[in-house]
Amino acid sequence: MKDEVLAALKESGDYVSGQELCGQLSVSRTAVWKAVSKLKEEGYEIDSVPNRGYCLLTAPDAMTEAEIRSYLHTEQMGQNLVCFDDTDSTNIQAKLLAEKGAPHGTLVCSDQQTKGRGRRGRAWDSPPGEAIYMSLLLRPGIRPEHASMLTLVMGMAVADAINELMDDSLAGIKWPNDVVLKGKKVSGTLTEMSAEMDCIHYVVIGTGINVNTQKFPEELNQATSLRLTTGRNFRRAELIALCMKYFEKYYGLFEETEDLSLLTDEYNRLLVNQNQEVRVLEPENEYTGLALGINNQGELLVRREDGHVEEIYAGEVSVRGVYGYV
Ligand code: BTN
Repeated sequence: MKDEVLAALKESGDYVSGQELCGQLSVSRTAVWKAVSKLKEEGYEIDSVPNRGYCLLTAPDAMTEAEIRSYLHTEQMGQNLVCFDDTDSTNIQAKLLAEKGAPHGTLVCSDQQTKGRGRRGRAWDSPPGEAIYMSLLLRPGIRPEHASMLTLVMGMAVADAINELMDDSLAGIKWPNDVVLKGKKVSGTLTEMSAEMDCIHYVVIGTGINVNTQKFPEELNQATSLRLTTGRNFRRAELIALCMKYFEKYYGLFEETEDLSLLTDEYNRLLVNQNQEVRVLEPENEYTGLALGINNQGELLVRREDGHVEEIYAGEVSVRGVYGYV
């Protein structure tokens, strides 16, 4: 009920009478009053004036179900929504839900994580109140070897969502899926999968976005946030909903072909490595070349000095700028 009352108040942007809310939501006046009281407890400032009704004055930057739903306009992605104040890792929680049969498109969010995990076994620093930690559960009907491309799809969705909120096209992608702002990392994605040889049980795409972070530990000197880049704060719930909007759009295009052929142009437009000299770090080998963009499988095409074009698969390889992170 709280979610519906909040959505109605947000949609109106003005005073809505108790009677109107009762009629719209088919509930009693007491139910509306209780929902408003709960919202106030969560930090919403709601004015109530006799004969005029309720008006939403300010909303907290909360990652609650009510707040995320008030921005969410997808058909599937995020419609089954699970929000925590605190959890070990949203990827762990999404996998547990998957094992219990949670549907395709389930989104798990948390305000903080105690065991946030990054790629290559690293920890992902996850303090409360400033960043997004979210994991999307998918049950794609695709072959397991195609699932890694979904990580790139999420990278695109996050970059586009950030660009829409910032009214600027500052966000780009460092191959394969780090989202960067002015050469520093603002978001990373860790994708995990449960599968058999020829069929996927589920995929969990876990994404962290540094939103209102003002300071990072010294060792994270390549990290940035939306706040540090622009000097202003952003609503995390709104950004989550935008990520779901773009992910749903791009996932539909990915599903049509089971590869990135309908998405390569858009991806390559966002790719900050495009036409840049990069250093390719393979487990046993290192070389420099010119990044040409991705192919339909999401592999990075790199032209070596002898003219040969390598197709780099993300797995064990990492790519850096010649002079630094990008
Ligand atoms: C990276 O190393 O770049 C990937 C970082 C992924 C972090 C996110 S935060 C939400 C989800 N839960 C986790 O434990 N990890 C991912």
